[in-house]
Amino acid sequence: MNGNVLLKMDNVSKTFPGVKALSGVSFTLRKGEVHALMGENGAGKSTLIKVLTGVHAMDKGEVQLKGRTITARSPQEAQTLGISTVYQEINLCPNLSVAENLYIGRVPKRRGSIDWKRMNEDSERLLKRLNLNLDVKQPLSGFSVAIQQMVAIARAVDMSSGVLILDEPTSSLDNQEVQQLFDVMRKLRDEGMGIVFVTHFLDQVYDITDRITILRNGALVGEYETSKLSKSSLVSNMIGREWREEDEHRKKEKSYSSEVMMSTQALTRVGSVKPVSLSVRKGEVVGLAGLLGSGRSEFANLIFGIDQSDSGILTLGSETFQSMNPKKAIRKGVGFCPEDRKVAGIVGELTIRENIVLALQAKKGIFNYIPLKKQQEIARKFIDLLRIKTPSMEQRIDNLSGGNQQKVILARWLATDPSLLILDEPTRGIDVGSKGEIRKLILDLAKSGLSILIISSELQEMIECADRIVVLRDRMQVGEISGDHMTETNIMKMIAEGGGTHEQYSQTGS
Ligand SMILES: Nc1ncnc2c1ncn2[C@@H]1O[C@H](COP(=O)(O)OP(=O)(O)OP(=O)(O)O)[C@@H](O)[C@H]1O
Ligand SMILES: [Mg+2]
Repeated sequence: MNGNVLLKMDNVSKTFPGVKALSGVSFTLRKGEVHALMGENGAGKSTLIKVLTGVHAMDKGEVQLKGRTITARSPQEAQTLGISTVYQEINLCPNLSVAENLYIGRVPKRRGSIDWKRMNEDSERLLKRLNLNLDVKQPLSGFSVAIQQMVAIARAVDMSSGVLILDEPTSSLDNQEVQQLFDVMRKLRDEGMGIVFVTHFLDQVYDITDRITILRNGALVGEYETSKLSKSSLVSNMIGREWREEDEHRKKEKSYSSEVMMSTQALTRVGSVKPVSLSVRKGEVVGLAGLLGSGRSEFANLIFGIDQSDSGILTLGSETFQSMNPKKAIRKGVGFCPEDRKVAGIVGELTIRENIVLALQAKKGIFNYIPLKKQQEIARKFIDLLRIKTPSMEQRIDNLSGGNQQKVILARWLATDPSLLILDEPTRGIDVGSKGEIRKLILDLAKSGLSILIISSELQEMIECADRIVVLRDRMQVGEISGDHMTETNIMKMIAEGGGTHEQYSQTGS
């Protein structure tokens, strides 16, 4: 048994100003296992990984790798010891090519200069392991977040010798990409590697992991064999109170009126969105379903004016627009929670309070400064409502855990009191417990008259929140499903085959 132990962390503690992130945590990784590290947002998962890999120094504790005590003072040093990591926030260089990103810091040389030919060939071979066929000479920035994530994983897989750590690697991958990644993980596991896997997708935990370690509030709850731990025990242990899956399912009541808040008529952007015509009524939640790259986010970007449409009409309330920009959209009562919080969301060097009032301030205009007291009131309200875990609203947002940053972005848009809210993957990176709370919040907001357009790759989430689901495929609107016809099977079928309408009520006019 002991001979199987690859990595052992013993009694590890780490304090940040005002936060005890880890208190006396122990963790054991064995050869040839995939080990899930689970816990709520802010439980200490990423911190445990970061003290292991030398991003942060630990206050107390010991780490042993293959029986030898080690202290990595930097991720490079951890790498040299055989520990490879894909961090929660992708750390690649978007301007460099895919191949350069794969070989940064270890470029193959030939007679003193970079051997480009070899680097490109090796890169192609490496990506093939993950079933990816990319033009490795292209800059990374030209690829989707999902592909960039796969490149980060490929790099880690290639460099790892012994320990591979993946902190929420699948949050932007579609089902097929997740399966590709799991195939590679299984292969590496069978070769004897130890893999640490962090995720908030419970199904993935049961699909790929052998063992689970649970953290709560920076403390160890326990270590379990995945096959012997039920889903409800897993979540109950994570959140510290009883949780039952049955209690989580919600069904939206019909709360919308006939008043149309937003509609598009053949809204089009050449090469990105083929004509889409849809409407959202007051108090209605409309879901947008489709695979990655089906045009869902691109369509959302058109409504908020991040991208410009080439033709078609957008109507907000009683006004029609030929063109839109974010400033105008905010003033017209549109809120937009973007898919990629790192690029379009958080302003890292600002505080939580400043991040929360940002959009509201933009809506009011810079000459209408929100007094500090009012800002504090708003921040306090949303920190409580969304249970954002922080010692203070004056904390820099980049010091928050990933899931808590996501909640701040949601708070920012709720604070503008919008009449239309566009939510692109609102629960990405959010823990199971909070996911349920956010779904409930969406339903409550709709009931009070807010119109919502929601995009989520978790179909069950959309089914529970939406009145209707519009399906896009290959950047084209292919159909619509509503009421009891909204089942995963029906949606998947329409995504695959396209066409058709499952309607429960007749839609007139818009
Ligand atoms: N650099 C930092 N400065 C101050 N506090 C920090 C810092 N990094 C993390 N924390 C705090 O430590 C705690 C644990 O955060 P951590 O990122 O480890 O959570 P997590 O389990 O990875 O959560 P998530 O599921 O949201 O990613 C949180 O309260 C967080 O705010
Ligand atoms: Mg984390």
